[in-house]
Amino acid sequence: MNAISTKTDIISNWQKQHEILFGQQAIKLNHTLIDTGLFTREALGRLIERCPPEELGLVSRRTVDGVQSRMFGELGETSGLDAIDAIERGKIWMNIRRVMDWAPEYRSLLERVFAEFENRVPNLKTFKHNLGVLISSPKAEVFYHADIQGQSLWQISGSKRVYLYPNNSAFVSPESIEKILLRETDEDMAFKSWHDTYATPFDLNPGEMTTWPLYAPHRVDNHDSLNVSVTMEHWTKPIWNTYAVHYGNGVLRRTLGLKNLSTAPQGLHVYSKAALAFAWKKLGKQETGDVIKQRGFRIDADAPSGIVELA
Ligand SMILES: [Fe+2]
Repeated sequence: MNAISTKTDIISNWQKQHEILFGQQAIKLNHTLIDTGLFTREALGRLIERCPPEELGLVSRRTVDGVQSRMFGELGETSGLDAIDAIERGKIWMNIRRVMDWAPEYRSLLERVFAEFENRVPNLKTFKHNLGVLISSPKAEVFYHADIQGQSLWQISGSKRVYLYPNNSAFVSPESIEKILLRETDEDMAFKSWHDTYATPFDLNPGEMTTWPLYAPHRVDNHDSLNVSVTMEHWTKPIWNTYAVHYGNGVLRRTLGLKNLSTAPQGLHVYSKAALAFAWKKLGKQETGDVIKQRGFRIDADAPSGIVELA
């Protein structure tokens, strides 16, 4: 063992090989976020109450005539602690977004985390850090999807199983990445049961975190416990180049009908595609904000399911 941890490290079991594994391979590490006091039930209750309404995502699912659909919700007058109780009883997914923008103590933590990674991974330079908190019901699921930036998932309480899939075109096509980047969809990516043959499944317990390669698809099943997890996002120059290339390809496919486009994150085409991406955004072609805005339910601590549906 050549661990280099000290008592104050956020990652407590970092080893030399993680320098080269970070961002290239799914890795699971131990963390000390729980010791900060920022993620106790009381602290989370206060965080929910401080959260600007536009940054509080609430999702549940309803079944009508055997067909499941997603509905978006609102907190209403429910207190933060009551909302957590409702999530513990119900089938609800709460996403407290962009916490670093409106809660300075979490911004400090976020900067500390990435300072630690940059200190440990040679030549790693990250920017546009983002911290969110996910509070989700027992047995809740996150369907198969991919994210557009560097991503890590930190478990605070409860436990979940994360299924991670290869980030090649058999599992995530360039076209589906473009759709996500161009914000044309909030749909889950197509999932086939045979995908699981090639998945790496692992359990995430309190005090454990995981990070994986860019665009690696994943899905998550909560075990039978309330789950509190932290998500952190980051960008690097290579991640940004990859984004610009896929985005530019998406524009070319839509405007000129081009096919067989290069997705290499380096070379001259990166600059022209980045220029195209920004031109497209400037023209206002990209959807902005949440793709769906209608609220279908409100949190209700007195309701057996923790929610009331809105007319
Ligand atoms: Fe994700």
